Amino acid sequence: MQHLKLITTASLLTGLLVTPLTRTAAQAGKAPAKLYQPQKAPPRRRRATAELPDDSALPGLMAIREAYLAGAIMFPGNRPIELVLRGYTPGSRATLEARAGRHRVAFKAYAENPAPEAALYEALATAGLAGTSGVRVPPLLAWDPNLRVLVMGWLEGPTARELVKTGQGKRAGDLGARWIQQAASLPVKLGPPLAATAILCRSRQWVAALGAVDPALGAAATVVAAKLGRTQPKEGVANLVHGTLYDCHVLDLGDGPGVIDWQRFGQGPLELDAGMFLATIWRIALRDEPFAGEAASAEQAFLAGTASLLDKRTLAWYRAAALLRIAANKVRVVKRRKVGWRARAYALLGEASQFAEAAG
Ligand SMILES: Nc1ncnc2c1ncn2[C@@H]1O[C@H](COP(=O)(O)OP(=O)(O)O)[C@@H](O)[C@H]1O
Ligand SMILES: [Mg+2]
Repeated sequence: MQHLKLITTASLLTGLLVTPLTRTAAQAGKAPAKLYQPQKAPPRRRRATAELPDDSALPGLMAIREAYLAGAIMFPGNRPIELVLRGYTPGSRATLEARAGRHRVAFKAYAENPAPEAALYEALATAGLAGTSGVRVPPLLAWDPNLRVLVMGWLEGPTARELVKTGQGKRAGDLGARWIQQAASLPVKLGPPLAATAILCRSRQWVAALGAVDPALGAAATVVAAKLGRTQPKEGVANLVHGTLYDCHVLDLGDGPGVIDWQRFGQGPLELDAGMFLATIWRIALRDEPFAGEAASAEQAFLAGTASLLDKRTLAWYRAAALLRIAANKVRVVKRRKVGWRARAYALLGEASQFAEAAG
């Protein structure tokens, strides 16, 4: 059984990396796209493959780790496939970049069966969003309910966050707005309800997380949550929403935005995604003051491109909720708390409080 898993994972990856090569070879004469190189590689990218976590909650990660260590994943010509850990939440999920030469795929291993997310990628592809131009999501190349893995095409381009940090704030805002415009006309009806009532319910957990590390932070969060309770918007038309439209989930693909990591999708108002996008753009300057001007340009461009689609008060409400959620995430894992985390958590709550007020 273990052996079978090893072969399955190895052939899954090897096969997927060979396919794009065959396609590229057929388009003789056409230079392949250059790999996008981030200006500063985040620390996780530099992690050696041997350091892939050993996490028994993620059967797909265990299988790929074993296959890799056994040397079972190879590319024709005996070139090894390079695996880079791009994201990891212990006991929940891991994201690997699998690369052979110029060919890359995203390999995501989950603790839960990713069938709903796989169905969403298929529905988005049917809606025309997994093509090679315009507004896009990654194409789903393969998935396995037993190993609980998704394998997706790699989208090449800087993230909205990287755009802000490289002086292209307006471009970041325009791309975010283009996604919202696209989402407004998407016919996809998959996913659980993700509207204000569900968010208010979850806000109790965010308040508790903050209170557990610092009672004063907990008290500030309680005030925000109470305001959210008083200003809760009416539930309007439900759209497909991403659920975590962070600045690092929106990529610049040259002729449109690419939106990745749909694990938390559902049905809710567009303001939910817009509020999260704006909250994470604002957070860039909270971490790095010099980017405040570019973050403000991103915000302006985003608001200008979505003004006819979003209700201002509803947006303020979801933005406040997103800021509260980010503050809670910031304090949840002790080892991820960076210098100055407490002051930043207060700043996030201060901003959240103002938007919760504006929602009334
Ligand atoms: N299909 C993809 N195309 C391009 N980059 C990707 C893709 N999938 C993941 N990434 C990169 O890996 C990072 C982590 O992936 P993500 O799906 O957001 O994982 P997590 O569930 O850990 O948040 C992303 O921020 C992005 O840089
Ligand atoms: Mg992510």
